[in-house]
Amino acid sequence: MSNFASSDLEPLLKQGSIVPHVNQIKLNLFQRDKDTVGYCTNHGIVVEAYTPLGKGRVDHHPVVQSIAHSHNVTTYHIALKWILQHDWILTFQSSSEKHQATDAAVFDFMLSKKEMQALDRISSDTEHAAVDRMRQILKNFKLER
Ligand SMILES: NC(=O)c1ccc[n+]([C@@H]2O[C@H](COP(=O)([O-])OP(=O)(O)OC[C@H]3O[C@@H](n4cnc5c(N)ncnc54)[C@H](OP(=O)(O)O)[C@@H]3O)[C@@H](O)[C@H]2O)c1
Repeated sequence: MSNFASSDLEPLLKQGSIVPHVNQIKLNLFQRDKDTVGYCTNHGIVVEAYTPLGKGRVDHHPVVQSIAHSHNVTTYHIALKWILQHDWILTFQSSSEKHQATDAAVFDFMLSKKEMQALDRISSDTEHAAVDRMRQILKNFKLER
């Protein structure tokens, strides 16, 4: 499957007789649909992460930069490793030979539990920031009316 949210998977599993093997979804440090990931995990559906680099956003995040610095790797390595250490499948692409060669270093280090927790918090913080922004927009909208 691809881009199936938990709300799409639920009726499928209820009515169908085959449990999908893999669900390919957009999943990176900034975009994590916890309901869908949790649903897949609980039902034995393998999660496959696409757009794992979050369109380059990893390069500008201070937590990712700091962890990358301490392992002497790039922020891209940290984004990829976070996915692998969650036991999700990784699908990403590079047309640059230089990137292909350096990206392979993702297998040369491990993130600690504390680092994984700090990275996990990024998507929650991003989610909260989006909700706060939406609340502010709605508040301003009401004031203007
Ligand atoms: N199922 C779906 O709906 C869906 C939707 C979107 C994508 N996908 C699949 O997911 C896979 C990847 O998706 P994506 O392209 O969105 O995201 P991505 O793999 O997160 O990003 C790819 C980009 O990252 C760059 N990159 C790779 N290594 C880098 C490095 N070390 N430093 C700097 N840049 C680096 C690549 O540039 P260079 O080429 O210059 O290295 C490329 O432009 C593809 O196979 C695609 O088919 C599936």
